[in-house]
Amino acid sequence: MHWWQQLFARQHPPGGTPNPNPPPRVLGAWGLTSMGIGATIGAGIFVTAGPVAREAGAGGVMLAFLIAGVACALAGLCYAEFAALAPRGGSAYTYAYSTMGELLAWVIGWDLVLEYLFAGSTVAVELSAHLVELLTLLGVPAPGGLKVHVAFPDPVGLVAVDVLAMAIMAVITAILVRGVEESARMNNVMVLVKVGVVLFVIGVGAWFVNAANWANPPPPAPQGWLPNTFAAAVAGAGIVFFSYIGFDAVSTHAEETREPQGRNLCFGILVSLVICTLLYFGVAVVLTGMIPWPDMPEQAPVAAAFRLVGMPWAEFLILIGAIAGMTSVLIVTFSGQARIFRSMANDGLLPRNVFAAEHPRYRSPHRSLVLTGAVAAVVAGLVPSDELLQMVSIGTLLAFALVCAAVLILRNTNPEFHRPFRCPAVYVVAPLGIAVNVYMMANLKPDAWVRLGAWLAVGLVVYFAYGFWNSAVRGRGPAPESARPPRG
Ligand code: ALA
Repeated sequence: MHWWQQLFARQHPPGGTPNPNPPPRVLGAWGLTSMGIGATIGAGIFVTAGPVAREAGAGGVMLAFLIAGVACALAGLCYAEFAALAPRGGSAYTYAYSTMGELLAWVIGWDLVLEYLFAGSTVAVELSAHLVELLTLLGVPAPGGLKVHVAFPDPVGLVAVDVLAMAIMAVITAILVRGVEESARMNNVMVLVKVGVVLFVIGVGAWFVNAANWANPPPPAPQGWLPNTFAAAVAGAGIVFFSYIGFDAVSTHAEETREPQGRNLCFGILVSLVICTLLYFGVAVVLTGMIPWPDMPEQAPVAAAFRLVGMPWAEFLILIGAIAGMTSVLIVTFSGQARIFRSMANDGLLPRNVFAAEHPRYRSPHRSLVLTGAVAAVVAGLVPSDELLQMVSIGTLLAFALVCAAVLILRNTNPEFHRPFRCPAVYVVAPLGIAVNVYMMANLKPDAWVRLGAWLAVGLVVYFAYGFWNSAVRGRGPAPESARPPRG
């Protein structure tokens, strides 16, 4: 086989080496569901609903949450089929590896960095902003949002460095280095707090709903062929989609599940997605009923809505929920990123001694965590979250579309594989998943496309500088981890 054919060859050699150091199997079905909710409910719901309501109106923001939820559900079903078939820590990267070959798998693995690492940086920035708000509410001075102004050489100039966001990343990294059991326990507590607060928002907020607020006419129509509210909702879906990012991180914990058949993984992916969708829709309905959409606060809209209806103390509670939410998002997201990197390193595409190394005592991928945490800290310190948000969304939408495509490909190329979970009506669900996710990508700002293109181009340079030469497929090192055959 020529080298260029090897790049696209599907990887199903008989046998292949298992992960040399399989992690301890400590997670059950509800533990995985908690991971999914932990990774999902965070900055998005507390931050994006306001600006989208102002663009799309009351009906528009509700529809936006539903459209984004449907896009995730379609991808979630495809993820579940793969997760049960190939329960390994590389998530979409592993799925692509076995269906589309090494090069495209690399592209997806690199793209997932946008979803995990950059989403983490975005959330760290938001968490820092929420902590500053909490301090202010408690009367503790936090001058200038605790930012430090640093003069960089031209053309960058003066930058307000978010040192608190950087410190947050350092703490999260330290927690993760202590290992999966420690961080899973902490995640469970955070999930209880944030779900409790979201239920509070829905349950108590419902008393302040004025149905007339839902009847406010939507904003004037943008030019286009779609009906007004729907067009605005589709555009809004691309923004609120950020709130859903993370449920797929369940699949990166495949090797830590107590039940190795992958059914628990499907449960975790799908149940966490259903729970988050219901909660998000509930928040969108209540919020737009509490405050007329033209008056919706842009900043921290959920907390601000309670202040506006005369319950300022609730703001404190909601801030606590948001802070707990974002903390657990960071924990699960970064542990997921380290697991994807470990799979890529075991396949020879990244240096093994960094990305597949384990802490001698805690057994966590400590070097990978520290490196990822450091990069995320620098990004969080220097780049504003609104610059990052659309880039994260476009990267995730691309990964979702590719997973839908990969499921279809494998159904055709290897129908004989035993699939503990089969995506129902796959010939409808997967193409629809591709269409909806790509359509949402198309509705993001051109800037997001340019950044995605630039990021993928950098990825190709890295691949041809390192992975191409060290790839296990081309006989360097042990057989590729992702090439272990799915159950036949
Ligand atoms: N879905 C995660 C959040 O909203 C990224 O914070």
